[in-house]
Amino acid sequence: MCGIVGAINGGTVINDLLSGLHRVEYRGYDSAGVAILHNQEIARRRAEGKLNQLEELLFKAPLDGAAGIGHTRWATHGMPCVANAHPHATAQVAVVHNGIIENFKDIREQLTADGHVFESETDTEVIPHLITHYLAKGMSPEAAVQEAIEKLRGAYALGVLMRDDPDHLYAARKGSPLVLGKAEHGAYLASDSIALSEKASELIFLQEGDMAVLGRDQIEITDICHRKVKRKVATRTTTNAACDKNGYAHYMLKEIHEQPDAVEKTVQANANALYDSALDFSDLSRLTIVACGTSFYAASVAKYWFEKYADLPVETDIASEFRYRSPYMPQNGAALFISQSGETADTLAALRYAKDQEQKIISLVNVADSSIAREADYVFHTMAGTEIGVASTKAFTTQLTLLALIALQAGQQRGVLSHDKAMKLTQELDELPQAMKRLLTCDSDTRHVAQELERASNALFIGRNTSFPIAMEGALKLKEISYIHAEGFGAGELKHGPIALVEQDTPVISLLPKDSLYEKTLSNIYEVEARGAQIITVGPEPIDGFLHIDVDDIGEFCNPILYALPMQLLAYHTAVVRGTNVDQPRNLAKSVTVE
Ligand code: G6P
Repeated sequence: MCGIVGAINGGTVINDLLSGLHRVEYRGYDSAGVAILHNQEIARRRAEGKLNQLEELLFKAPLDGAAGIGHTRWATHGMPCVANAHPHATAQVAVVHNGIIENFKDIREQLTADGHVFESETDTEVIPHLITHYLAKGMSPEAAVQEAIEKLRGAYALGVLMRDDPDHLYAARKGSPLVLGKAEHGAYLASDSIALSEKASELIFLQEGDMAVLGRDQIEITDICHRKVKRKVATRTTTNAACDKNGYAHYMLKEIHEQPDAVEKTVQANANALYDSALDFSDLSRLTIVACGTSFYAASVAKYWFEKYADLPVETDIASEFRYRSPYMPQNGAALFISQSGETADTLAALRYAKDQEQKIISLVNVADSSIAREADYVFHTMAGTEIGVASTKAFTTQLTLLALIALQAGQQRGVLSHDKAMKLTQELDELPQAMKRLLTCDSDTRHVAQELERASNALFIGRNTSFPIAMEGALKLKEISYIHAEGFGAGELKHGPIALVEQDTPVISLLPKDSLYEKTLSNIYEVEARGAQIITVGPEPIDGFLHIDVDDIGEFCNPILYALPMQLLAYHTAVVRGTNVDQPRNLAKSVTVE
């Protein structure tokens, strides 16, 4: 979603702002802008579209100054156009904002009655006007920012620049992450530490309700009660390697190839952590798993595992539905929240609901210092590393790996899995990285099928058991980056409706591991073949007359993790042949911090 950067130093900040904005491009955006103190005035440049549009503008009309803020905007209130692009500003105050101000209409009405004139449709624009309003009452810059944020309802991460206070930037967070950075000669703020990975050597993650004043040489933070506080200073860990494509054409392809390593690290980091944790499934009444997007499909696979290997009743839901349907949550239940970013607004709200219902809260996150990690009773980390491609790949397979480990632990604690059986299943997990490597060294099948999909306007993905959620994830991947309409179905459900979509040559990608449901799935495949579908089987055995993507089964337990890879590669190669923007697909955001 939106990205924020800010910098104050003794020289010129424009290059720092632009390089920071490039690093948060992956979050997804449709306009961008900067505001800089230039000749004692706030000067802005804003452009619709990608950063090169903004850079062209800056080339024609350069900006120079020692303090500035920048933003990439993912439109929520109002179209992606220049007037709605951040920074929003009055003559005295410029603001970049992530999140949503829920009471912006009321504030706007009051300020309009006071003579303020608004230029955009955004919720954000009320913030610089509100700060200006308090400055006009004689408040200090710090007090004016403080007073303004107290009037805001909703979520925000803010960067504020003031015309008459050239030596400081202001920052505040509530509900949206914000990180500050310190370097030898300067201070920075950003929505994401990756934006600071070139510049700041030390990072400070603001806590909920914090406000900060950034000077060139020092940063002062006050907490929600306006007390001066010192927050932990972390040394930067995001290396430039995460931001480098490492010879691959796209981040997504690089990240697909990083999966064997990421899966191995996830097992290594968690096998003991899990054993040592006090997390006990033995007399749990029910496990509720909640997530969004790809993380929800990881939850959907895990449901099969927990039920089969741990005899544990499981309910799964997407967070945006779960949070508003007043779900009944039993006594002695646990709720597990899966999130790559750890900041997805709906997942976080669902977590808070489950907490109110006195559930044990478990979270699985990829970003360690995230809100969903902080608010859980038990936190486990996927070791995917930074994922830049908007379409999730290594985050998904590491989530599955970690869920598989947890399911095995639960199975043993509940006396369902014998030690021997658990060891056998663990061996599948141990073999997974090698099996992934083998599969990735030969992607000619997926390349070939991608050529066939190039002109398709619809595709169906089918599978049974744990292959069903993988079919849904395959369909999601394809639509996200190639824009081909695709849906995933349980193979047995086809004849209850979706089969009506099958026309001559409709591609039906069929996940066909050689498992206990092989014959059943095969029957469903013949039903659609009889109606003209173009069948693409994915599995260990080609079938005469069908296109085929070869996958050597690893075992019924870990197959879904392995089968995720051909789904990713198929979407990737199809997007490449169709010439779409693989790493930054239209309209999508990496981290969704609004509901
Ligand atoms: C966005 C991303 C998806 C992701 C989903 C949930 O829609 O584009 O790739 O699966 O959010 O994100 P989370 O960070 O909670 O896993």
